[in-house]
Amino acid sequence: MAIHSPESRIWWNEPVARGELVWVAIAFVWGLIMFFMMIYWHIYGKQNLSAVVGRVDPEVYVGKVEAFTEKYKVREEGETGIPVAKPEAGGDAYMVARTFEWWPVLELEKGKSYKLHLSSADLQHGFSLQPTNINIQVHPGLEHVVTVTPNESGTFGVVCNEYCGLGHHVMGGRIYVVEPGQGG
Ligand code: CUA
Repeated sequence: MAIHSPESRIWWNEPVARGELVWVAIAFVWGLIMFFMMIYWHIYGKQNLSAVVGRVDPEVYVGKVEAFTEKYKVREEGETGIPVAKPEAGGDAYMVARTFEWWPVLELEKGKSYKLHLSSADLQHGFSLQPTNINIQVHPGLEHVVTVTPNESGTFGVVCNEYCGLGHHVMGGRIYVVEPGQGG
């Protein structure tokens, strides 16, 4: 609120300067271009995941992840004894987000394709794969199925990039990519 009344009472109905109109037009056209580029990049770009999303009951999903982990577990790691699962090349791999971890750890082979399933057991979480440029939101009740073909071996960190509570800053996971025939 102003202390003094405006000098001109109808202050809001001034003619708009030409330069300003030009900038508004440029911003509008640029917005339209970027809108259509989202569709273009989805088809021709490499930055968007072609994820299939279906509905799933969170409890059913957790059951699938547990069965998968039980079947493909090759070892346990760290103080928490988190299992490491090594799925078959060409097969399905599952990870679940829950407060505050990504579970289990996966071990994949370089150059092989996997159908990676991602969902959440409780709240909204994030799946940000480091150091690659992949970052998606993960919600309970929705299942992403992403076809991945790792082209580099190494250890990849998964960081939760959606605020999910007091343990958000420590929430993460791991994916190992090994040379074919190694690891396990
Ligand atoms: Cu999970 Cu932030």
